Amino acid sequence: MRILVTGASGLLGLNLSLQMTPAHDIIGVDRSKLTGVPFRLMNADLLEPGACSRLMDSLRPEAVIHTAANALVDACENDPLGAHRLNAELPGELAEICFKRGIRLIHISTDAVFDGTKDGFYTEADVPNPLSVYAQTKLVGERNVLSVNPQAIVARVNFFGWSLSGSRSLVEFFFNHLSAGKTCNGFTDVWFCPMFVGDLAETLVRMLEKGLSGLYHAVGSESRTKYDFGVQVARQFGFDESLIVPISVEQAGLQARRSHNLRLSVHKLSTDLGAAIPGLSAGLPKFYAQYRQGYPQKIRSYQQ
Ligand SMILES: NC(=O)c1ccc[n+]([C@@H]2O[C@H](COP(=O)([O-])OP(=O)(O)OC[C@H]3O[C@@H](n4cnc5c(N)ncnc54)[C@H](OP(=O)(O)O)[C@@H]3O)[C@@H](O)[C@H]2O)c1
Repeated sequence: MRILVTGASGLLGLNLSLQMTPAHDIIGVDRSKLTGVPFRLMNADLLEPGACSRLMDSLRPEAVIHTAANALVDACENDPLGAHRLNAELPGELAEICFKRGIRLIHISTDAVFDGTKDGFYTEADVPNPLSVYAQTKLVGERNVLSVNPQAIVARVNFFGWSLSGSRSLVEFFFNHLSAGKTCNGFTDVWFCPMFVGDLAETLVRMLEKGLSGLYHAVGSESRTKYDFGVQVARQFGFDESLIVPISVEQAGLQARRSHNLRLSVHKLSTDLGAAIPGLSAGLPKFYAQYRQGYPQKIRSYQQ
């Protein structure tokens, strides 16, 4: 399948593009950050007028996976208009462009759309109530996509993996501190369902191949607190888990409000795919295997 991936330099976009190459013909779109990647690369600022239609008309992909966003939760609080443009308006415009050309679309959204007050796992039928600018703009983005393109997939995700900068993801936060023997905080009152980015890449491709459409929760099938996630990382790598200081997210002084419960049910996804969805216990050993194989260095070598 010829798949165009936006945000190809990002945590998800880069891992996804690397993993899907060469089984699929991947075209990554970035803003001149990448070099030497084993997939085709196009430079574009997606917010430039006409950029998205030009890409679709010249490259004619069969599918687009739209990962580009402002995914920095606290940065969005300081730039609500910019976050709205990128996270809310652009996805709707892209969805319409894809719909008119018969190009399949997966739009990547977030588990953060919920306020966390539910006792248990959120399903696709639950009503979101975003607490931050980031989450608000992502929710409007979801709605904009589905209102113009009912064939699109909107996937609410949460994932972990190695990044271009070496410091983009929560798992790298724990790895960087613990491997240097430094203490770090772990939230004991935020629950989530992290999925290894490689498992997410496979899941997204299966969703395309199955011809799914509409809203899906595409997260790991096991829930943990962020503190416990750190402990699992420490155990996997043989680091000292006592370096992780258990604290409440409220003590961390973060700018944007955070939900305490980011647990999403994957029942709909697993039923429609006819397959079990991997959780942390399956994903973490794969993340560790990448480390043993020098993947973090390899991924950083793609930075211009
Ligand atoms: N990270 C998580 O744990 C998490 C959790 C839930 C949901 N998500 C969602 O997953 C998706 C991917 O997140 P991520 O963590 O991979 O993000 P990321 O690492 O911050 O990457 C964002 C990407 O978007 C690109 N981008 C931003 N503005 C652009 C523009 N105007 N034109 C072209 N490209 C642009 C960036 O390019 P530059 O490198 O040039 O800036 C970068 O490649 C997002 O939709 C996010 O909301 C992420």
